[in-house]
Amino acid sequence: MGSIVEFSGVTRAYGARLALDDVCLALEPGELTFLVGPSGAGKSTLLKLINRELRPTKGEVWVDGMAVHNLKASRVAALRRRVGVVFQNYKLLPRLTTLENVALALQVGDLRVSDEEARDRSLDALEAVGLGDRGDAFPDQLSGGQQQRVAVARAVVAQPPLLIADEPTGNLDMDTAWEMMDLFADIAAWGTSVLIATHNVEIVTRLQRRVLTLVQGRLVRDQPAGRTGRMAWLASS
Ligand SMILES: Nc1ncnc2c1ncn2[C@@H]1O[C@H](COP(=O)(O)OP(=O)(O)OP(=O)(O)O)[C@@H](O)[C@H]1O
Ligand SMILES: [Mg+2]
Repeated sequence: MGSIVEFSGVTRAYGARLALDDVCLALEPGELTFLVGPSGAGKSTLLKLINRELRPTKGEVWVDGMAVHNLKASRVAALRRRVGVVFQNYKLLPRLTTLENVALALQVGDLRVSDEEARDRSLDALEAVGLGDRGDAFPDQLSGGQQQRVAVARAVVAQPPLLIADEPTGNLDMDTAWEMMDLFADIAAWGTSVLIATHNVEIVTRLQRRVLTLVQGRLVRDQPAGRTGRMAWLASS
């Protein structure tokens, strides 16, 4: 216990193909970790096992003390409240304002938050991502980087212990990508564990955080923070 995420001998097959092969790992609270590896290595699959979009073929997945590999359907909503998710393409609802997009995350399932509290907390979250004055804007009135900030606010407004992000800077230019990574680092510093799948080698190399490397479904490297050298998989990509 103590780890926010723990994988023990996790294998995930699609038919005969092993997308993940006997993966073991543990993530600690407040840690920012990168997940890297060539296309098809299993990064998205690993993230989807955490929020139970997928089930493992074999092995155990623990998230914040919950046995996700055995999770009853009735507990999935409780798991999802503990795991904020950010995607490459933002996935904001176009007909809702940014404030409403964020507030929606507090008004689903059995989270009984009043409209007023949802509004206050959503404004706080928008403020935290630097968009406190854009609550009334619609997604298409914001830049890509701003939309991704709204998506981050939505992911953290319920204060989950874990945030997972799949290629969150994939659609952003380099300057905006750096700002986004600074934001993720802040979120980790506030105590949330953050796991980011990314192809952005420059950022991963320079930030010197923990790096997990997947190659063909196997976790081939687990590099602690502060010792990020040249990525082995770069040679092949
Ligand atoms: N729904 C699916 N059905 C069959 N095979 C799948 C499915 N989803 C993923 N795969 C396969 O599983 C392997 C891992 O895919 P995954 O999407 O996890 O890789 P990835 O590391 O996220 O790649 P990328 O960097 O391109 O996003 C790949 O070989 C992929 O083709
Ligand atoms: Mg992927």
